[in-house]
Amino acid sequence: MTGIVLAAGLGKRMKSNLPKVSHLILDRPMVNWVVRSLKEAGVQRIVVVTGYRAELVEEVLDRDVLTVRQLEQLGTGHAVMMAKEFLDDEDIIVIAGDEPLIKASTLKEMIGKRRDKGLDVLFLTMVPPDPSGYGRIVKKDGRVLIVEDKDTNEEERKIREVNTGIYSFSGSFIREAIEKLQNNNSQHEYYLTDTVGMASRADTMIIDDPEEVLGINNRQQLCQVSKIAQKRINNALMDCGVTIVDPDTTYIGPEVKIGIDTVIEPMTFIYGSVTIGASCVIGPMSRVFDSTIEDDVQIIRSEVSQAHVKTGARVGPFSRLRPGAVVMEEAHVGNYVELKKSTLGRRSKAQHLTYLGDTTVGEDANIGAGTITCNYDGKNKYKTVIGDKAFIGSNSSLVAPVEIGEAAVTAAGSAITEDVPPFSLAIGRARQINKEDKYRKNREDND
Ligand code: UD1
Ligand code: CA
Repeated sequence: MTGIVLAAGLGKRMKSNLPKVSHLILDRPMVNWVVRSLKEAGVQRIVVVTGYRAELVEEVLDRDVLTVRQLEQLGTGHAVMMAKEFLDDEDIIVIAGDEPLIKASTLKEMIGKRRDKGLDVLFLTMVPPDPSGYGRIVKKDGRVLIVEDKDTNEEERKIREVNTGIYSFSGSFIREAIEKLQNNNSQHEYYLTDTVGMASRADTMIIDDPEEVLGINNRQQLCQVSKIAQKRINNALMDCGVTIVDPDTTYIGPEVKIGIDTVIEPMTFIYGSVTIGASCVIGPMSRVFDSTIEDDVQIIRSEVSQAHVKTGARVGPFSRLRPGAVVMEEAHVGNYVELKKSTLGRRSKAQHLTYLGDTTVGEDANIGAGTITCNYDGKNKYKTVIGDKAFIGSNSSLVAPVEIGEAAVTAAGSAITEDVPPFSLAIGRARQINKEDKYRKNREDND
């Protein structure tokens, strides 16, 4: 089975430098919603027809998706001609790349119905209150025709059943029909819709829920469709035992998995490949990308990207976990703390104003307020190792590469440039000197 996705158009009304189908719905480019539905419907081979700024569309597609280029946009039929080499004897599904809400179940139903009835083509239609702009379905003498809006006569304009642009063809039929297309119509285009008129066995399937075939032509529709996608995902998660306090301000991508009794607080974005365990609290005002969050974790007003937060850990408010951050079981990352390529060990705490980069912290360590690992000399990055039960005094600068031994202590305000042996105290700052009475005269005179 082959799916052909038509995505060569520029999408003039988007008023964009980007091709229409590369605009995002939640975290995923529009065209990939269609590709995903085809895959879920069991379509093994997917060919995307690209044209306007083709490379920008090709770049966002999965590796297993094939592409062909349509250099001039001479119509939907012409676009399918570009994929001629993929038209075999199996089922061919043709679908526009700008209808991202189409469900796999609907595609499956279409494919099944066409096969059962032995049709050349079965295509999806709807009956909207206002049919203008769409191709009208003309049925007479057992045949089906699609008349494009611009080619309709007065009688045809009144027809309310319209083409949604999603078709299931028999391969042998479309392979021949596509060769016979002409462009003698008002737009001088090769219309894919004309192939329907050539079929001796064609039928329509009227869609139950017209929301599924909402097309995107402008930014307002992009927003409308995004809202529906958001609602679908949030509702599905709530049905599976996740509390979403305010679904209107909660944005969750289609690949995200969340365990039961987890609460997602308002103004939260969870995008990409994310797994969140059970009984967590995420948000308010947090963003989590491509990360693994285990059970009983709290992430409050924080940014988390390509990180792993283990069971019982606390993150935030105002923390930033960057790629490679690992927060071990029951560890705490507090306010204004940043971790990059660093592991904070079990039950260890970095609660205030800290940067840990390229650092490994053992278990039960305490990283004092204002601790900074100086991991970069302007050219290279170096590692810091902090042992179990170590106590890093407030406002320490740890100049990497450096190792702080087990249970060692650094004095507050130290610049630590050399390794500290286990169980030792390191003081890396000038001793305080008190110059007695230095200001007494001066101050008393002022009084
Ligand atoms: C098409 C149908 C119309 C249907 C409507 C539903 C035809 C002739 N008409 O009209 O019956 O009611 O969709 O939305 O098919 N594309 C290409 N190459 C081209 C032209 C278009 O790849 O040369 C792509 C576009 O990027 C878009 C899709 O095909 O994704 C549909 O094209 P569009 O121009 O929007 O067709 P409509 O005029 O809306
Ligand atoms: Ca259209």
